[in-house]
Amino acid sequence: MTELITEQPAPQTQPMLETERLLLRPFGLSDAKEVQRLCGDFAVADSTLNIPHPYPDGAAEEFISKQSTKYEKGDGVVFAITLKSDGRLIGGMGLDVKRPFHRAEIGYWIAQSFWNQGYATEAGQAVVAFGFNHWSLHKITGSYFRRNPASGCVMRKLGMVQEGLLRDHITKWDRLEDVVVCGLIKT
Ligand SMILES: CC(C)(COP(=O)(O)OP(=O)(O)OC[C@H]1O[C@@H](n2cnc3c(N)ncnc32)[C@H](O)[C@@H]1OP(=O)(O)O)[C@@H](O)C(=O)NCCC(=O)NCCS
Repeated sequence: MTELITEQPAPQTQPMLETERLLLRPFGLSDAKEVQRLCGDFAVADSTLNIPHPYPDGAAEEFISKQSTKYEKGDGVVFAITLKSDGRLIGGMGLDVKRPFHRAEIGYWIAQSFWNQGYATEAGQAVVAFGFNHWSLHKITGSYFRRNPASGCVMRKLGMVQEGLLRDHITKWDRLEDVVVCGLIKT
């Protein structure tokens, strides 16, 4: 059996994470209009579980205003992914934490004009490290629609391995979706 090692407690307020090209910071209400514009892109919403389309007015504000409480309760974290070079918001990434199981599920999106430049992978490496080091997680899982190979590629590049294929598992906009489940165990 693997021993769970408790490391540093998570900071009281959500920290920022810095990578080579990115600054991951908490979302603020001033991001809401840009979140609505970027997530309002059908191509972004189409392969996610929860982003609605069209993206309704007020939804971004509602989502953002819940984040600090969620973090403070230890239920999860969401980072705005921004470019260090000019501060531009290009995506979001988060962990939903299941504390009794020392486990979290990762989720993310990147604005379409920034796809295939390694940003999701770069942000993911920082978020995964944050989850393991500051939250004493033992495992991080992720899942993606089988028709979304880019997300599968990101998960593999994060070191995740496929643990299952759930056939016709989700109905998204009246279409049944096969879901691939991946996991990464802290070693
Ligand atoms: C999935 C998503 C986050 C990827 O973001 P990204 O910043 O483009 O990801 P990265 O650049 O780090 O990696 C993408 C990888 O997928 C690969 N890829 C892209 N399209 C692909 C395709 N059709 N088939 C196979 N691989 C593909 C890229 O080549 C790249 O791999 P490489 O670096 O080895 O060349 C982005 O496409 C997105 O936001 N999609 C809409 C929302 C979404 O699907 N979120 C995830 C839900 S699980």
